[in-house]
Amino acid sequence: MDLSKPLSRISELYSDNLERNGPVSTAVGWNTPESQRLRFEKLTSVVDAGAQPFSVNDYGCGYGAHLDHLLERGMKVSAYHGYDLSEKMLDTARARLGGFQGELDLRQSTTLETEADYTFVSGTFNVRFEASEDEWKRFILGKLDEMHRHSRKGFAFNLLSTYVDWQEPHLFYGDPLFWFDHCKRNYSRQVALLHDYPLYEWTILVRK
Ligand SMILES: C[S@@+](CC[C@H](N)C(=O)[O-])C[C@H]1O[C@@H](n2cnc3c(N)ncnc32)[C@H](O)[C@@H]1O
Repeated sequence: MDLSKPLSRISELYSDNLERNGPVSTAVGWNTPESQRLRFEKLTSVVDAGAQPFSVNDYGCGYGAHLDHLLERGMKVSAYHGYDLSEKMLDTARARLGGFQGELDLRQSTTLETEADYTFVSGTFNVRFEASEDEWKRFILGKLDEMHRHSRKGFAFNLLSTYVDWQEPHLFYGDPLFWFDHCKRNYSRQVALLHDYPLYEWTILVRK
């Protein structure tokens, strides 16, 4: 399965968005900052509030808005490992997050290489371009295995939902029942599916 073409188009898409919009929610495909924050809220609920400080992998980190969110919420983050395809996103994240007191590690990579307490994924798997649905599903399954191996305490991700009236051909929609079942059978007995918020997507939390 060669995904180099869609991945390079995805990188271009987000780099162009960033150039046109600057480091704001629309650069990473979110209509409003409120919806971006709501996604972070849902993902962050995997964190055990009593276990701070904690380290983070952010797979598809964009310009690093999730770290801002964690710090604004008063959470103590010891290390932030941000991964992205787009060097422009990473350069912007580097410039924005320079004042972060913990370990800041930003990498242009599609492979998780660092172990952290928690791994987050927000919106990273939404665009698939010419990759088939089946290829993209297998790609995500592989990434979830990686997240499981590289997350000590848990991980959380979101996908567009199949419970929608309309689907765009270049996007990936996940059946929440399939992904919940997969996580429950393969990763942990403690899995939550959040599909009760007003966006066309869902979030899964996996606690180890
Ligand atoms: C929808 S944006 C969300 C960014 C960030 N998570 C947020 O919510 O602000 C997705 C980001 O993931 C990056 N990305 C997409 N696929 C990726 C992959 N396979 N590996 C690493 N980064 C990826 C894109 O370049 C883009 O910056």
